[in-house]
Amino acid sequence: MKKLDSVCLTNVKEVYNGPEGDLWELIMGEQIHVGGLTSSMNLASKAGLKPGFTGIDFCCCNGAGMRFLLKFQNALSMTGVDASKTVIDRAKLRSEKEGFGEKTSFILGDVCDSGLPENSYDLVWGEDAWCYVEHKDKLISEAARVVNTGGTIAFTDWIERDGLSDAEAERFMAFMKFPTLLSIHDYSNLLRENDFEILHAEETGIYAEHVDLYLDMLNKQLTYDALKLVGFDMATMESMGKEMAFMQKLAHENKIGQGLFVATKK
Ligand SMILES: C[S@@+](CC[C@H](N)C(=O)[O-])C[C@H]1O[C@@H](n2cnc3c(N)ncnc32)[C@H](O)[C@@H]1O
Repeated sequence: MKKLDSVCLTNVKEVYNGPEGDLWELIMGEQIHVGGLTSSMNLASKAGLKPGFTGIDFCCCNGAGMRFLLKFQNALSMTGVDASKTVIDRAKLRSEKEGFGEKTSFILGDVCDSGLPENSYDLVWGEDAWCYVEHKDKLISEAARVVNTGGTIAFTDWIERDGLSDAEAERFMAFMKFPTLLSIHDYSNLLRENDFEILHAEETGIYAEHVDLYLDMLNKQLTYDALKLVGFDMATMESMGKEMAFMQKLAHENKIGQGLFVATKK
């Protein structure tokens, strides 16, 4: 596990309440995770979801994952928890607009202490977001608390892979505002400690090619739009470009990646 003491939830909220969050949506789309719809479909299929389930999306952002589960996987209802007000407001608006107002509910708060009732949901879902959560132990134990016995936890996340040095982790995590970064092994341990039986804990293998794609979008097509989001500040844009290029290097050296996890509560 890698830890960066200088980053906490306040910094993460600044990102997702402001233009940096909009920048991520610009280059990744409404689903702010690596692999978009294909990744969601893959995770849902590995989770073996059955129609009519009730779910929670921890770190739901603008709610795209919840609407995906309602639209494509026949969820009965979805509850989203996110700490950033801007994205929660957007999630409510978009869900209403797409006809899911009655099947969705939202909580503005920390996923480590959601306030949701225990043993009450069939699924806890997360897509490329838990890397922003400092206390992964509290997050996984909160997931274990709210999900039904026999229920499922299914998530993808940005992960540490072999060979990532402390200095490299510090630079990458400071740019991304990740307070902690776990490996597949770290997450597997946490899942077992919280009485989950692991069905999948694996690398997706799609991370590096997607980082290439995001840099291509920024450099070749969306440069003006991205600049506009940062107030046409060339220096900020150049420094972000440099950090993304560093991230691309780490990705191609297989030092960071995307993990996929599915487990059931015993
Ligand atoms: C990359 S976005 C999530 C993307 C979303 N899962 C999707 O696939 O579209 C990360 C989100 O995590 C939220 N977040 C980070 N730490 C959190 C915490 N401790 N509690 C609640 N939300 C948190 C941020 O506010 C942000 O909206």
